[in-house]
Amino acid sequence: MKKIISLFIALIAASAANIAFADYDLLVKSNCLACHNIDKNLNGPKLKDVAEKYANDATATERLAKKIKSGGTGVWGEDMMPPQAQLTDANALILAKYILSLK
Ligand code: HEC
Repeated sequence: MKKIISLFIALIAASAANIAFADYDLLVKSNCLACHNIDKNLNGPKLKDVAEKYANDATATERLAKKIKSGGTGVWGEDMMPPQAQLTDANALILAKYILSLK
């Protein structure tokens, strides 16, 4: 019985990790890492800083999903994030949620 329980726990842990990998994969595939790194500033802000900035902001997920699609400038400096119009709304939302989970 103990074995079954620990197998079950391992399975849950593995599937949670898979979800995180899938989201990271989307970040890679969407070319976000050309300008962003999780814990280094590149052309764009490091994604951990983005997560921290909006940690207490309940409306951040939707707003960031929109900003990811439309791009913009002026929040982190003068560099411009180009629009990522190729993203579906659903994927922009997945990316926003993933980024906000990185704190
Ligand atoms: C060509 C470079 C570039 C690419 C590619 C890029 N970004 Fe950015 N990103 C930036 C810059 C520059 C900023 C800062 C914009 C600002 O100050 O308003 C930024 C800001 C952000 C922010 C914070 C927005 C805010 O208002 O606080 C998020 C979230 C983000 N990017 C996500 C993404 C995601 C997800 C992708 C991939 C789909 C991506 N970025 C692709 C350059 C880029």
